Amino acid sequence: IQISDNWPGYSLDLFTYPQHYYGDLEYVLIPHGIIVDRTERLAKDIMQDIGDNDIVVLCVLKGGYKFCADLVEHIKNLSRNSERFISMKVDFVRLKSYHNDQSMQDMQIMGGDDLSKLTGKDIVGTGRTMKVLLNNIEKYKPKMIKVASLLVKRTSQPDGYRPDYYGFEIPDLFVVGYALDYNEHFRDLNHICVINDHGKTKYRV
Ligand code: IMP
Ligand code: MG
Repeated sequence: IQISDNWPGYSLDLFTYPQHYYGDLEYVLIPHGIIVDRTERLAKDIMQDIGDNDIVVLCVLKGGYKFCADLVEHIKNLSRNSERFISMKVDFVRLKSYHNDQSMQDMQIMGGDDLSKLTGKDIVGTGRTMKVLLNNIEKYKPKMIKVASLLVKRTSQPDGYRPDYYGFEIPDLFVVGYALDYNEHFRDLNHICVINDHGKTKYRV
């Protein structure tokens, strides 16, 4: 799903969201329900592509945890309601590369022991994070690696990385919610929203 640069979004007044974020957000870019519905379809596409292979889901924390949990849930439900039972293992790595809304050069990877077939990620911004992670996973020579990311940003970055599956292509905006953070805030917001200047200043470090 492409969200165009001139998409005005939805007014925050049309939805509910935590009171402690009143005044910090510009608008709702993607409501929670649409995120979940789109994720269900990604799960179906993934199921179709992996055939009879078992999968190891590698969730990229922290921002990917909501997407990963919902994706796994949908894969489980689809698998239960079909003839094919897919065995799934889940593992986690933690990456950190952002300071305020700026991508940092150095990146830390923490955790993860069983790196294999599938990764669940929150957002591909510049694509830098994903490339570093893939370089690390490829050392383990998995049979297949597929990357699923909820969002892909249209950045001007020339080395733009494209995941195998993604939910939405969005404008080059800093977004929060559905586990995506701004300095650890806004993860507890259900919808994906655009933060305003007041919010940026309030939570700047
Ligand atoms: P990249 O290296 O620029 O692709 O950044 C990827 C990582 O940065 C993601 O996994 C996110 O955790 C974080 N990130 C990038 N863009 C955003 C955003 O708009 N909001 C919140 N986090 C973001
Ligand atoms: Mg972050």
